[in-house]
Formats: sequence, C-alpha cells, structure tokens
Amino acid sequence: MSKIFVDACFGKETPYTPVWMMRQAGRYLPEYMEVRAQAGNFLNLCHDPKKACEVTLQPVNIVGVDAAILFSDILVIPDEMGMDLEFIKGEGPKFNDPIKTEADLNRLLGGEEAASKLTYVYDTIKLIKEQLADDKALIGFCGAPWTLATYMIEGEGTKTYNICKKMMYSDPELLHKILAKVTEVVKLYMEKQIQAGIDVVQIFDSWAAAIEPSKYDEFSWKYMVEIADYLKGKYPNIPIIMFPKGVPAFLDKVYGNFEVFGVDWSTPMGLAKEKLGDKYVLQGNMEPCRLYSKEATTECVEALQSIMGGKRHIFNLGHGILPDVPVENAKHFIAECHRVSKK
Ligand code: CP3
Repeated sequence: MSKIFVDACFGKETPYTPVWMMRQAGRYLPEYMEVRAQAGNFLNLCHDPKKACEVTLQPVNIVGVDAAILFSDILVIPDEMGMDLEFIKGEGPKFNDPIKTEADLNRLLGGEEAASKLTYVYDTIKLIKEQLADDKALIGFCGAPWTLATYMIEGEGTKTYNICKKMMYSDPELLHKILAKVTEVVKLYMEKQIQAGIDVVQIFDSWAAAIEPSKYDEFSWKYMVEIADYLKGKYPNIPIIMFPKGVPAFLDKVYGNFEVFGVDWSTPMGLAKEKLGDKYVLQGNMEPCRLYSKEATTECVEALQSIMGGKRHIFNLGHGILPDVPVENAKHFIAECHRVSKK
C-alpha cells in the first residue's frame, strides 16, 4: 500500500495533505505519561524497544496522524559516543563531562563504533514496522551536528551559547573537528535506521538560530547537506526533511539534495513558498500554542491551506506540541488538516 506521507514528500499528488506532529516537550498524552512512569525515567524508555514502540504508535492510534515519529532523542548519539547523559527533572538534558579540549573529543567513540551501539533504536524501529499500518509512514530522525555539538560543548541547554560561540570564533578548528566527528556517526546512524525500516529521515537543527546568518553554512548547514548527500547517494527512495529552526535570513541561501524543508513558526509560510517552494516541498508551520484554542487552530489551518493550495505541502506544527495541550484540541488539528485538504 502506498504511503501518502512519502508521496507528499516527493511532491506527488495525494488525496489530501498529510499531517504529523512532533511531541518532544509533549507530555500531552496521559497514555504516554503512564508508560514513562512504568519505565522509571525518560532514558530508560528510549532504551526499551517494546515501550518505545508503544509510545511511538500512540499518536497514530489516538490522534490519527499520517506519520509516526520514532520515539527516541537526538542526544542518544553523544551518549553512545561516550558522554554521560542525564535527564534532570525540570532542567532538561545534562552532560556532566562537556568537551573542552581536543583530548576530550579524542576520548569519544566515532563512526561505526558509536553507531553500532545504538541497537535499541534499530530494534525499536523493527518492532514499530511490524505494528504500524502499511499506509502510515515512520519518520526516523537525528539532530544536526551543530545542535548536538551545542549540548556536547555547553553540557546542557543554554540561552547564550557563549561556550560554543567562544570556540566558534577563537578556535574554529576544534569546533570543526567536533562537527566532523559527529557527522560521521550521524551518517552511519541514519543509514542503520534506514536499514532497520524507517520510511523518512528528518534532521533537526533546533539551535540553528544561534548562529549568525553569514556563518550558518560553515558551521551547520554544510554538515547537514553532507549527511543528506551520503544518504541520498545510497537510498534515493527515502525522502529527507531538513528542519533548521529560526533561519528566515538564510532562506535565500538554502541548497542541497533533499526533498522537504521544515518551516518553523517564526517564518511566514508565504515567504518560504516564495523563496523555496519551487525547489522543495514545505512542511509546517502552525504556532504550537494555537493548539490551546480550537478556533485559533482552524484559522491557521485554513490560512495555510489557502497559501499552499494543498500542493507540495505537509501540515505540521512549527515545533513540538506542549504538555498541557488538551488531547481533544490535538485531534481537532489533525481533523481540520484533513478536512480542508480533502480533494
Ligand atoms: O515527538 C516525539 O516524541 C519524537 C521523539 C523526540 C524526542 N526528542 C523525545 C523527547 C524527538 C524528535 C526529539 C528531538 C529533540 N530532543 C530535539 C530536537 C527537536 C526540538 O524540539 O527542537 C532536542 C533539542 C532534544 C533534546 C531534548 N530532549 C530536550 C531539550 C528535552 C527536554 C524538554 C523539556 O521540556 O524538558 C528532551 C526530552 C524529551 N525528548 C521529551 C520527549 C518526549 C520529554 C521527556 C519527558 O519528560 O517525557
């Protein structure tokens, strides 16, 4: 059976415009909270293929999205490279041993050695594929090397990025060595996700906006393009979604061999269409907080449909869903996307 989500990524005509949602900071499903409580903590859940499979399928079965996103986290990569990851309640992710020097980097595992440690992710994918309906797509993902490097260098989420920016301007060679090492792991990691069964690749560059536009290509985009080139060369039938968050000033310079460009909610969809709509299918971009109001949701879905005309577009939030969004409103979003775009 064909997957309309995959067809839409390749810009083919589909009976309606597909929709999916990232949950990330989203503890909005009580069913998710229940499984997470059984697992003890978030990382245990990522390490347990049966439970990770169960929570991956929840949004498909409960709210009716057209694609499931693998349940995992972008930070399992630095964790398996040998850094010590903890998710601290109320504070988010933390590495207790951030990279300060080249010696710190050299201690970490690279390439195949690191990628082959992520067997729990590949096992989760295989389980999901056994249970996911044939017409639904499974999105596998990774973080962009830059976004992963910000955590590896700062040790935690940051408002200023001062430690990695100090490295960017005073020791760019070391930053490039970190980015290159992470890129090698990510390439193999995504290849193994594809071999395990994912239908679509998404690369998240959540902290893209931290880099000034004239440096964005050098420190982030070119590494994302390198990953896309590697995967496209071997797996041309697997579509790739690039999602750099908050880069309207870079839209004129976007290049690369991939199918879908994820538009975040701070970038007007009309602007993205004007600049990129001929080259790439666009994904996005409702402000996730609109989900607090059904009226605000409908208004935005209708506006997006009128801008995109149901063509070369995938409905999506402009970022992750928030934990206190009523499930009913999430269902309303999906139903509205399907309603306005049915041909
Ligand atoms: O939507 C999904 O559930 C898919 C799986 C997914 C998660 N993280 C699970 C998760 C995906 C695609 C991610 C990506 C991710 N992780 C990103 C990139 C996307 C983005 O939001 O920009 C980033 C930056 C991370 C790192 C990360 N993981 C942070 C900063 C946090 C803390 C968030 C918070 O509000 O405390 C996480 C935790 C996390 N990853 C959760 C989930 C479901 C919440 C954990 C929980 O409390 O259950």
